[in-house]
Amino acid sequence: MASEPVLQLTAVAKAYASGQGELRVLQDVSLAVRRGELVSLIGPSGCGKSTVLNVIAGLEEPTSGSVALSTDGTTSSDGQRLGRVAYMPQKDLLLPWRTVLGNAVLGLEVQGVGLKLARQRAEALLDTFGLSGFAQEYPHNLSGGMRQRVAFLRTILADKPLVLLDEPFGALDALTRAEMQAWLLDLWAGVGRTGVLVTHDVEEALLLSHRVYVLSARPARVRQVVEVPLPWPRSRRMAATTEFAALKASILDVLWDQAGVLHA
Ligand SMILES: Nc1ncnc2c1ncn2[C@@H]1O[C@H](COP(=O)(O)OP(=O)(O)OP(=O)(O)O)[C@@H](O)[C@H]1O
Ligand SMILES: [Mg+2]
Repeated sequence: MASEPVLQLTAVAKAYASGQGELRVLQDVSLAVRRGELVSLIGPSGCGKSTVLNVIAGLEEPTSGSVALSTDGTTSSDGQRLGRVAYMPQKDLLLPWRTVLGNAVLGLEVQGVGLKLARQRAEALLDTFGLSGFAQEYPHNLSGGMRQRVAFLRTILADKPLVLLDEPFGALDALTRAEMQAWLLDLWAGVGRTGVLVTHDVEEALLLSHRVYVLSARPARVRQVVEVPLPWPRSRRMAATTEFAALKASILDVLWDQAGVLHA
């Protein structure tokens, strides 16, 4: 795999003004994502994971530190990142009055791609995303897993060199979640994207990513960086190995410490 860095966060801090003074959300967060990598962020609830993605996307600027996004041979830093990443936010945010196809093409429409071309591109991927036959359905007729796949399709169709996924499987039951993870592994191998995945599930982080950044409670700092040594292509069966169990236990130790959970 080429080692060209697509994204580099260096000592990023973020604070918000609040009624009680300053709310420090991120502190000294550094991370790098190279081309073709999927990197996970995991940390206690409310620690600042979505804020990291908002900062990467350019929706928020860091209070201090820097973010460099290098795509197409150019580097965008502060104030220049908006519109350069595909972002699947924590809620699926499908528009209830638009069909599956209408929701899927939304990102392309916003980019000014003609509707006919946008529809063709979406239709070509419906099967891959397990949505064939559902193009004209409305979101309320879909299962939770299908809604997530529509949001996913919209994100991938946006055709950006960096994909940000905020707990994409968070609302799903365990079985659907496992199906979606297997499906994402296939998809990722096929489309060859670079991405950052936020999850609260250690197994998911290990199974899907090249590297896991374990964050502390708010203000989020990087507590541990775990290079996942499992070979590619990955499969769920790898979760049954002792190597996997040891990695999982070491990350859970750090997380439980951060959350103040008592453990032996
Ligand atoms: N725009 C904002 N203005 C003020 N405070 C904010 C803003 N965005 C986030 N926060 C605060 O920052 C903290 C971290 O929020 P964030 O959503 O990044 O956490 P998270 O780790 O994604 O949480 P969860 O696990 O619930 O998804 C929270 O206390 C939140 O209220
Ligand atoms: Mg969040």
